[in-house]
Amino acid sequence: MALIDVVLSRRSIRRYEEREVPEEVLEKILEAGRQAPSASNKQPWHFIVVADEGIKERLSQGRWNSFIRDSAFTVVGCGYAGDAYGRRWSTVDTTIALQNMVIAAWSLGVGSCWIGDFKEGEVKKLLNIPGSWKVIALISFGYPAEQPGSKQKKPIEEIVGRDRF
Ligand SMILES: Cc1cc2nc3c(=O)[nH]c(=O)nc-3n(C[C@H](O)[C@H](O)[C@H](O)COP(=O)(O)O)c2cc1C
Repeated sequence: MALIDVVLSRRSIRRYEEREVPEEVLEKILEAGRQAPSASNKQPWHFIVVADEGIKERLSQGRWNSFIRDSAFTVVGCGYAGDAYGRRWSTVDTTIALQNMVIAAWSLGVGSCWIGDFKEGEVKKLLNIPGSWKVIALISFGYPAEQPGSKQKKPIEEIVGRDRF
């Protein structure tokens, strides 16, 4: 698929096949994150790949994240907040890296879903995330067991201004 078609066809996938994602595919997805741009190339991110059934179950307790337990793995994206630069940019940088992973995964046939439904304190405790790091988002990954239709998106005229807002 051409990259533009990967971007335009991506949908959030919340139902997954039971089959595992091979290690080499996982590594390509992570590499896509590693190559992302970041402010001053600081790469203020850390990614925890959760594949353990028990931990996935513990992360699946929210109202909008129950599908984590069915994912092949879920990436917990963390951003460094231990200095002013990190506090200013790590959310942006980590988000870019995570979306790189989402797009790379889709190009490899792996679906995913962004997850904002998590309790940061609980996730940090569960995964031993140091105090100077914040949890930006979780993303579940797995081979799609659903084919969502097109999603309603705002029209271009509403979201784009030319030379002014
Ligand atoms: C920051 C962020 C947080 C999200 N959190 C959740 C979530 O907690 N649970 C969920 O099911 N979907 C979540 N989503 C997925 C959105 O619902 C989805 O992207 C949106 O409905 C558009 O659908 P699409 O991704 O198929 O284009 C989140 C998306 C983003 C970008």
